[in-house]
Amino acid sequence: MLDKIAGLKAEIETLSASTPEEVEALRIKYLSKKGSVASLMTDFRTVPAEQKREIGQAINELKTLATDRINALREALETTESVDPGLDLTRPGAPMPVGTRHPLSIVSNEIISIFGRLGFTVAEGPEIEDDWHVFSALNFAADHPARDMQDTFFINREPDVLLRTHTSSVQSRVMEHTQPPIRIICPGRVYRNEAISARAHCFFHQVEALYVDTDVSFADLKQTLLYFAREMFGPETKIRLRPSYFPFTEPSAEMDISCNLCGGKGCSFCKGTGWVEILGCGMVDPNVLDSCGIDSKKYSGFALGMGVERITNLKYQVKDLRMFSENDTRFLQEFTAAAH
Ligand code: DAH
Repeated sequence: MLDKIAGLKAEIETLSASTPEEVEALRIKYLSKKGSVASLMTDFRTVPAEQKREIGQAINELKTLATDRINALREALETTESVDPGLDLTRPGAPMPVGTRHPLSIVSNEIISIFGRLGFTVAEGPEIEDDWHVFSALNFAADHPARDMQDTFFINREPDVLLRTHTSSVQSRVMEHTQPPIRIICPGRVYRNEAISARAHCFFHQVEALYVDTDVSFADLKQTLLYFAREMFGPETKIRLRPSYFPFTEPSAEMDISCNLCGGKGCSFCKGTGWVEILGCGMVDPNVLDSCGIDSKKYSGFALGMGVERITNLKYQVKDLRMFSENDTRFLQEFTAAAH
């Protein structure tokens, strides 16, 4: 009987089938009530008692083997069957859609990298701020209109918790805990209570730069501005400074660059003037240095701040500011080539 079992075992191990019907035939042949395994069970009754254990075990093993083998044949056929016969597995896969950098990130990274070449390093601060870092430390008078509800989003009054209206707040934070030399570039989002339109939004982005050291002069500021303008808009770019006012700088100026759309000849973008305004700047007011714990008799500095949306518009002529925050992928994908 053991020989018979061994014979069946060898047979089962080499079973094969190419259709489900063949598998079923094998199941009937080996595992049905009248199948080979069942007939062994019938023979088993006549086995002498002392051999029952050994033979019983062999029959059980054979039954498991047959069941596993036949199931495996069935599964193999099922998986091949579910594969579309027209499918070409050697074809390359469908491309995965790759995201693109947001235009504002592209431009802000470019600004950071230009200032990085001059030794400026990135500093960041919170968007939810207090009055001190956004206004008081920066020499805003107590009744300055920028503190007004109309401009500033307040989260809480007394103590004042608010959304920063400019990234100049990072200046005060860094100066509070760092002694000069300080050379920082501060990118980030700012908030102002403006009605949303093509030309204004309640949040936008700024990059602020601050340099404080011994003997920092207006000439250093001018040269830095010229370097930045040429790196950002091309070597032909001219700059022009107009006197201005900011509470935290004295003297203060606004910088225009020669219109990069018409090359300075005058067009609708520059309203015929040949110049476009791009940033505010000035020498850090000594009051600001002192408020932040830096000796204004020993140190001087310059600061500048610009809107990233404005620079991006100049580079890419985005007509409507709202495009920047709508996350329409058709718009975002236009900047793929520029992202490097
Ligand atoms: N904080 C100013 C604003 O939000 C921009 C600015 C102007 C920053 C002059 C400066 C500066 O650092 O010197 O409009």
